[in-house]
Amino acid sequence: MPITLHPISRRRFLAGSIAAGISVAISRYGFADGASADPHRFALLSDTHIADDRTAHERGVTMYDHLQQAIGEVAAMSPAPAAMIVNGDCAYHFGKSADYEQFLGLIDPIRKAGWPIHLAMGNHDDRPNFWNAIPGDSDRVKSLDDRQVLVIETPAVDWIMLDSLDKTNSTPGILGKAQLDWLAAELDHRKERKIIVMVHHQPDTREKVEGLIDTPQLLETLLPRKQVKALLYGHTHEWRVEKRDDLHCINLPAVAYVFKQGEPSGWTDAHVSNDSLTLELHCLDKSHPKNGDTHKLVFRT
Ligand SMILES: [Fe+2]
Repeated sequence: MPITLHPISRRRFLAGSIAAGISVAISRYGFADGASADPHRFALLSDTHIADDRTAHERGVTMYDHLQQAIGEVAAMSPAPAAMIVNGDCAYHFGKSADYEQFLGLIDPIRKAGWPIHLAMGNHDDRPNFWNAIPGDSDRVKSLDDRQVLVIETPAVDWIMLDSLDKTNSTPGILGKAQLDWLAAELDHRKERKIIVMVHHQPDTREKVEGLIDTPQLLETLLPRKQVKALLYGHTHEWRVEKRDDLHCINLPAVAYVFKQGEPSGWTDAHVSNDSLTLELHCLDKSHPKNGDTHKLVFRT
């Protein structure tokens, strides 16, 4: 359930002209205010898992401290990115309202800096609680009844953020036929554009699915449509840069804890151009061997 937070400085935000529960948004506010923002640069975060208790910790990580550090690093980006994107699991386990209050406090420096923030939901988020804490945007256009997607139009690429949240605190996710049909139509409508697709759950074709249940249907939608240049996901709390056929597939790392020893916690600095996506991993542990890991992913044609 992606949702966009406009910069806190925007008059429309302060006027409270914000409404929740609308399914599809075409974001026309995908750029940070100010001339210093780079319209081709994006800060990508995933799996922040913020609890109401700032001392909450799991697997040796105090999640509040990790996001606080990441936000500090993102806020220091120069030039500033066009937007910060958080690809789901903003909340700890159950998407409690108080989790989102804590989350909002942590990302406040980015809002005050005047950058748009685009948020997706993961399997540890809760839609009603999220909406209560972070009302949606009145610009959104209703298209799907029970799922929400976001299109972020930028000069070089359009980002499509999907909604794979099925049940809160249940591991697998699903897009569903209506969303997949919408996606196919939207991609066909954007044949002349370059598209990056984001979804919380990873492609997963194993017998016991812990990622996206309708992976085959998603790949059938994406792979033949060459305007789709990359698929980004989170959920596994691992950093992976791989391919499905000629489609770049990137597993964004968790800002919070990891499940496998040796995996990095961190965030990703993304640069897009007309022919490539360049990703640089920023580990929170600067001594991690993957810190600074950089991949230039040339777009398929
Ligand atoms: Fe997660």
